[in-house]
Amino acid sequence: MNFADQIARRRTFGIISHPDAGKTTLTEKLLLFGGAIQEAGAVKNNKIKKTATSDFMEIERQRGISVATSVLAFIYRNKKINILDTPGHKDFAEDTFRTLTAVDSVIVVIDVAKGVEAQTEKLVEVCRMRSIPIIVFINKMDREGKDAFDLLDEVEQKLGLAVTPLSFPIGMGYDFKGIYNIYEKNINLFSGNSKSNIEDTIAFDDIRNDALDGIIGEKAATELRDNLELVEGVYPKFDRESYLKGEQQPVFFGSALNNFGVRELLDCFIEIAPPPKSKKAEERVVEAKEKELTGFVFKIHANMDPKHRDRLAFVKIVSGTFERNKPYLHVRQGKKLKFSSPNAFFAEKKEIVDISYPGDIVGLHDTGNFKIGDTLTEGEELHYKGIPSFSPEHFRYINNADPMKSKQLYKGIDQLMDEGVAQLFTLELNGRKVIGTVGALQFEVIQYRLEHEYGAKCSYENFPVYKACWVAADDPKNDEFKEFKRVKQKFLAKDKRGRLVFLADSQFSLQMTQQKYPSVKLHFVSEFD
Ligand code: G4P
Repeated sequence: MNFADQIARRRTFGIISHPDAGKTTLTEKLLLFGGAIQEAGAVKNNKIKKTATSDFMEIERQRGISVATSVLAFIYRNKKINILDTPGHKDFAEDTFRTLTAVDSVIVVIDVAKGVEAQTEKLVEVCRMRSIPIIVFINKMDREGKDAFDLLDEVEQKLGLAVTPLSFPIGMGYDFKGIYNIYEKNINLFSGNSKSNIEDTIAFDDIRNDALDGIIGEKAATELRDNLELVEGVYPKFDRESYLKGEQQPVFFGSALNNFGVRELLDCFIEIAPPPKSKKAEERVVEAKEKELTGFVFKIHANMDPKHRDRLAFVKIVSGTFERNKPYLHVRQGKKLKFSSPNAFFAEKKEIVDISYPGDIVGLHDTGNFKIGDTLTEGEELHYKGIPSFSPEHFRYINNADPMKSKQLYKGIDQLMDEGVAQLFTLELNGRKVIGTVGALQFEVIQYRLEHEYGAKCSYENFPVYKACWVAADDPKNDEFKEFKRVKQKFLAKDKRGRLVFLADSQFSLQMTQQKYPSVKLHFVSEFD
């Protein structure tokens, strides 16, 4: 297969949802279709399956939430599908935001009973900002939930999407009979406990056909015809260009747990979802089809195997091919590196690969060379944009609780910050270290990981700050900036890259500061230029 075909057959996407909507279950069923796993977990052992497939870390097993973003790949109908799994828990939203810089499209999972939930809103907003193509999957149709049309309205209003259903449920909950596939014009009937790999479908070019009444009953058939008429009248026709531009979002219904409606989703997905796209670097736009390798690190995962204390840097390949043992330029460090065992990901395994293509994710063993956002090239000085740090909202002083282990502690903190678990600030006034996080849970994660991976102990002390903002002065030499630095010295710190940060102790003080020093700009995201 030539290079262009390799690019065209790749689909790299993320599944996002509020926790418990069914992201893990859907991921498993997709893998099942790809033949990547043999059988999805039955309801009872689902949690164990979760551990086997998409959860990497011990801490996650303890908490039952997805802390880590994992990569799962499989082949389906000759398409190479890369799923980037994302933690749904809000305290790990930053990890998910970063992963969204590496996907070409997303599937949003919504629980039919709960509708649009808080975390879904936030994540979809990030996708919308970046015009990422979105497909919506409304899950748990085997349960009683909201009316399909009400739910479509809710998705439009709360998520600001322009939806068009490509499948439609026949009944719901106890009366759930199946799915009419608008995209393919056929019916898929629900047998209650359909765990088979591929369900039988009945083709219907014309739903006015009387045979439908015999199959699903007269009442359900009439209701379906009415509903489809309404769909046709209310929603625009599916238009792939609009979907690719992020201007229209197709919707599917189903039940991931029962493996129902998943094939419809997947079959349509591989046809309409975009292959690897071009990406903006600071210097220029890079096309996937360019021959020279470029890629960027969007995630670093530490010590997956506690016996080998190394890290895995996840690199998204934007252009060219990534080859084993070929030297590549680590742009930030200005040095060439070779990788003898780059990992590719297949379902729950990782394997050493000789060559990877745009859209693929390679895992590089790393002993501390990489930071999130680093770029690899074949020599070009290129910097990929858009892996921002977000303004943390929880702050604590971090202290060394075991003076014999200070070296381990500082190494651990350093590496955890490179991974993007949290941000470290050093106060200008007294040099004390403060950890800032997006969610409170990260403090426990850091403490746990410092102890289990680095053998160091830390303790925390409260540090009452409302928000950290990156400071940019219109003119660093002007008197206003000098006064700002003098008056606010107590509230100033440096981040790990030496950038100036203002720690506002309340929303009020943030507003007052902005008013008083208009030429000093305060930013909530680190990538502001
Ligand atoms: P998440 O990754 O988005 O957090 O969700 P996950 O797949 O773990 O699913 C959350 C719960 O919803 C699980 O139940 C799962 O079995 C259930 N679920 C997923 N899809 C469906 C569906 O289509 N229909 C129904 N009825 N339930 C579904 P749990 O009780 O939390 O876990 P378990 O003990 O059943 O494994």
